[in-house]
This record gives sequence, C-alpha cells and structure tokens, in this order.
Amino acid sequence: MEKTITVLPGDGIGPEVTKGAVKVLQSIAMRYGHTFHFNHAAIGGIAVDKHENPLPQETIEACEASDAILLGAVGGTKWDQYPSHMRPEKGLLNIRKHFDLFANIRPVKAIPSLLSSSPLKEEVAKEVDMVIVRELTSGLYFGEPKRRSEKSAVDTLVYTRKEIERIVNQAFEIARTRRGKLTSIDKANVLETSKLWREVVEERKNAYPDVEVEHMLVDSAAMKLITDPRAFDVIVTENMFGDILSDEASVITGSLGMLPSASIRSDGFGLYEPVHGSAPDIAGQNKANPSGAILSAAMMLRHSFGLHSEAVAVEEAVMGVLEDGYCTGDLFRKGKRVVSTDEFVTKVIEELEREFVSEHIMYSYV
Ligand code: IPM
Ligand code: MN
Repeated sequence: MEKTITVLPGDGIGPEVTKGAVKVLQSIAMRYGHTFHFNHAAIGGIAVDKHENPLPQETIEACEASDAILLGAVGGTKWDQYPSHMRPEKGLLNIRKHFDLFANIRPVKAIPSLLSSSPLKEEVAKEVDMVIVRELTSGLYFGEPKRRSEKSAVDTLVYTRKEIERIVNQAFEIARTRRGKLTSIDKANVLETSKLWREVVEERKNAYPDVEVEHMLVDSAAMKLITDPRAFDVIVTENMFGDILSDEASVITGSLGMLPSASIRSDGFGLYEPVHGSAPDIAGQNKANPSGAILSAAMMLRHSFGLHSEAVAVEEAVMGVLEDGYCTGDLFRKGKRVVSTDEFVTKVIEELEREFVSEHIMYSYV
C-alpha cells in the first residue's frame, strides 16, 4: 500500500512526539511492505510566527494532497494574548472545519500497570474501557452569530438534524463492534438542541437493534464518570460537552500521555493526534511521552488505511515496552526505568521487530 501522510508537528512537545510516531510508521512500512510518504507543514503558534496565520494556505494544500494527517499539539503561553484569529487553537478549529472532520473518537482504556497514578481509587479505575465519540464541527464552537462588544458577547448553539444523524450513526457503528452499549449525553431538560439530539438517537436506534441505548444528562454523566466509569462503553455527545467530558475521562486511567485520538470524515480521511497538549514546560528536552502520538498513528493505520494487523502490532509493541518496565518521566513509579522520548521510540521499534520475527517463525512451522 502506498500512502501520503502530512505531519503537522505544531508547538511545544508536538515535534518530538510526532517524530517518534513517524519512525514507528516507517518501521511498519518496511516490515509490512508499504510505502508511506511524509510531508511536513506548519500549524498553530509556529505557523503564526512564520506566516501570521495558524493554518496557512500551503498547509491546507499539503493536507488536501495527502491520505491522512498526523498532528502533534498546538498552543503555548507565548500566544495567549494574541487576538482570537491568531491563536494557535484557531488552526485546529479551522482544519477540523475545512476537512469536515465531524467525528472525534477518543478511546480511554485502563492500562493495569499505570493505574496507581489514577486520581481515582484503583478498584474504581481498573478495567475502564470506553470510547468517547464527540461531534467536532458544529455546536457552540462554530454557531453563528458569534460576536463580542464592550457590553455583551454572543455564542450560538445550533445543530441540524443531519449533523446529529451522522455523528450518532458513527457512534452506533462503533458500539456494535464493542460491548454494544451506547450512552448519549445531552441536556434535554433545558436545551432545544439536546431535545432534537435525543429524538434523533431514538430514531436511529431502530437501525441498530443489537445496541442498547441510554440517555444521560451531562451533569449526571460528569458525576458517573468519576463514580462508576466502567459503566460506559461508547459515549456520543455534542461538541462542547464532549470537550469537557473527554478531558475528565482522560485522567481516569492515570495515563493522559498515553491517549490517542482520531478526528475523521465519512470517507475515512482523518486527522490523528495525541490527547495531551503542547506541554511547553518540558518541550525540547527529550522527556515527553510519545505513546499518545504513536497510538494515534495506530488509529490512522486502522481507520484511514484499513491496516488492522499493523495497528494491533503498534499497540502491542507500546504495551510490550511498558510491560518490560520502561516508561517516560510522566509515568514514573517504583520499579520502572525512565527513558527519554527517543529511547522509548527505539524500544517500541525493537519490540515491533521482535513481534514480527516471532510471527514469521510461527508461520514457517505451519
Ligand atoms: C481539544 C482541545 C481543543 C478543543 C482546543 C485546543 C481548541 O481542547 O481538542 O479538546 O476545545 O476542541
Ligand atoms: Mn479539549
């Protein structure tokens, strides 16, 4: 298979972690006989500095000419006081909208050896395994009118039936490949958009008799995520609620640096990025955890390229390195060996090599 990937390293630790993910993808390409071409382009604060635009036209063109996008992180204190159209985050919002990346998929899965870092009791956090499906191109983030004056400010919450349908369908499809439970989160006791949301979920569920559906109000969902996170399988929710709840969920497993995400369009094109931010305090020090970026690359292999075995190989390699006792500083605890970003990446590649060789030997006996 031959694919072109645009890499948008962005700010802070973004360049270090995407560099690691690219190395892992190159290793996969070599072993499994694929060709991946990589283009690099600017987004976020670095693009503001260079081009006075957080999403320059040439970046859009590079992405348009590619099969998938791998993004590091955007943002940093340097740009905090810039006007909103020049803020790094605007680059991310614009790219989501430009490419119609309406489905944001954020898996949150407990890794047993890391649970002692969870802010929750281990017995509550253990075995958590959920996927948050967040609507990403509508709602309060993009609704018009949006304006500000001295005396007042306006944001608008609008959803069309079509926008709700497509994200809900996506979530049903994911739920049927998992434990078959879908929790739709809204504020239907107050918001009109949520009433429409609930109605659409009720309609769509007829097409998915194999999926059990529940509705939950966002405030009680926020509580339940902390008291009983194992109760969730797939969550579907609108843009703003999804932003807040996914940050809440991301810390449950005690391993924010591990978490990947995908933002995809209906034809499978997507943008893949780690959930963690730009972490300017440790940028450039070869300390960042590259796992979130590497596991995002695995999501790319699966969702955009349909390369399932390759995706599993990457995921198993990362878990293998952790099981061998290696970790980056964010995951440090007794008995673990802290390694740098680059060393961690090398270990993942060695692990991939080992998996590949042992599979090969197995086949040669058959
Ligand atoms: C996220 C981030 C973004 C969002 C910001 C950086 C615009 O928080 O991806 O969750 O709010 O969507
Ligand atoms: Mn967020």
